[in-house]
Amino acid sequence: LWLAVGIRRRQPGEPAVENGFIPYLGCALQFGANPLQFLRSRQNKYGHIFTCKIAGQYIHFLCDPFSYHSVIRQGRHLDWRKFHFATSVKAFGHDSFDPRHGHTTENLHQTFLKTLQGEALPSLIETMMGHLQDVMLRSDTLSPSKDHWEVDGIFAFCYKVMFESGYLTLFGKELGEDKCQARQTAQKALVLNALENFKEFDKIFPALVAGLPIHVFKSAYSARENLAKTMHAENLSKRENMSDLISMRIILNDSLSTFNDVSKARTHVALLWASQANTLPATFWSLFYMIRSPDAMKAARVEVQKVLQDSGLTVDPSDPTLNLTRDQLDNMPVLDSIIKEAMRLSSASMNVRVAKEDILLHLDNQEAYRIRKDDVIALYPPMLHYDPEIYEDPYEYKFDRFLDENSQEKTTFYRNGRRLRYFYMPFGSGVTKCPGRFFAAYEIKQFLTLVLSYFDMELLDPAIKVPPLDQSRAGLGILQPTYDVDFRYKLKSNH
Ligand code: HEM
Repeated sequence: LWLAVGIRRRQPGEPAVENGFIPYLGCALQFGANPLQFLRSRQNKYGHIFTCKIAGQYIHFLCDPFSYHSVIRQGRHLDWRKFHFATSVKAFGHDSFDPRHGHTTENLHQTFLKTLQGEALPSLIETMMGHLQDVMLRSDTLSPSKDHWEVDGIFAFCYKVMFESGYLTLFGKELGEDKCQARQTAQKALVLNALENFKEFDKIFPALVAGLPIHVFKSAYSARENLAKTMHAENLSKRENMSDLISMRIILNDSLSTFNDVSKARTHVALLWASQANTLPATFWSLFYMIRSPDAMKAARVEVQKVLQDSGLTVDPSDPTLNLTRDQLDNMPVLDSIIKEAMRLSSASMNVRVAKEDILLHLDNQEAYRIRKDDVIALYPPMLHYDPEIYEDPYEYKFDRFLDENSQEKTTFYRNGRRLRYFYMPFGSGVTKCPGRFFAAYEIKQFLTLVLSYFDMELLDPAIKVPPLDQSRAGLGILQPTYDVDFRYKLKSNH
């Protein structure tokens, strides 16, 4: 009978199982309503590891941070590719990147490391800084004034500025656009269309990951395909100053894969999504919490002024050409802490591995549990990020939480007197850690540096409550606010 209704019984040596009350969905609804609360209550009941059925899949949640290592280190028995490649195919509709499926021989992981880290970073940083200033001050995206305040939602503001700048940084500009007004207008329309299509598609992203077919969502499907059309080879070939990430993608799609043109275009949509979906809400939370905290604003302003002064840079909105090197950006621990604290409070990415065979998972306390082949093992970092033993008053925003007594980056965090190896994981862990994490931190830092340099900013309601996190995206990365928060900004008048 158990087998007939798809319910698993706990075998000796296995973690405790919760099948939930609803066939197939299992605990999905309880988990979805408030994942952190759900997992905490199960942790209290069962201990460091337990199994839940969620939407047909048995997931083992490992809750002891000192045992994370046994999942994160790249074990022979745990597969990360299966889940990641399959998720990308489900959401974006391209052919599989898993070399075992025979559509490509590319090592995608290596491509990401080469095109998003190390030597690839200085040019990404420089290009982004130029686009950010163009979008904030030269184009008609914002048109700020010295004389009157502009009112906008903080999320809407971050979305506009970061999407356009990030899009142009990755995909470049149309050839000859600088010299021709008509082309500039067309270019602007292209980016705005991309933004609208991105938003429409992004809305249903959680449903796609959960396994619903995209054809159910007509407008989101056409939004994704509209984005893909703009990324067909003949359109991309008309662009200049493209990032290595995209130009290598074009070359490797052509040389190592058997993807057809539509599939190739969809791989670019996947990268657009990866580069924006988390960055946009992360920028919102960084700016929102900073503006809301007078201490954070003050410390950030002091740091930004010092960096600009030390580099001999003057702020001039009529000639917005500030530039900061990677070293200078590396030397901004206050902004670092501001961004980290915002992401600690808003990140909800799930780290997932699949058992390649029946295995024994060893925990830090010497216990070992049997895991069945094809079962999923998951880590849910909000369990760390909201742990009061690791972060005192975890629901409170403290801009300097990641600064030590010398106002430098704090890297030592403890639980029960033991130093933690894993305490901050918005970018995932181990081999699946976000390859864009360095660029992501730089671009948010650049954004904050520029808004602090060029604008005065205030919340319309200084006492406004923190908007709740939209839990519908729990598991997928940085959560969005359930509603936007208004602020006002104008060009600084001391120039
Ligand atoms: C994957 C977080 C920004 C490129 C991921 C993953 C997370 C993440 C959690 C999945 C890791 C896993 O499955 O364990 C973030 C956050 C960002 C951000 C919080 C911003 C605050 C970016 C940016 C780029 C980028 C700006 C590129 C320009 C990627 C790519 C992957 C990825 C290509 C897939 C890697 C793979 O499957 O091998 N990111 N990301 N990310 N991210 Fe990011």
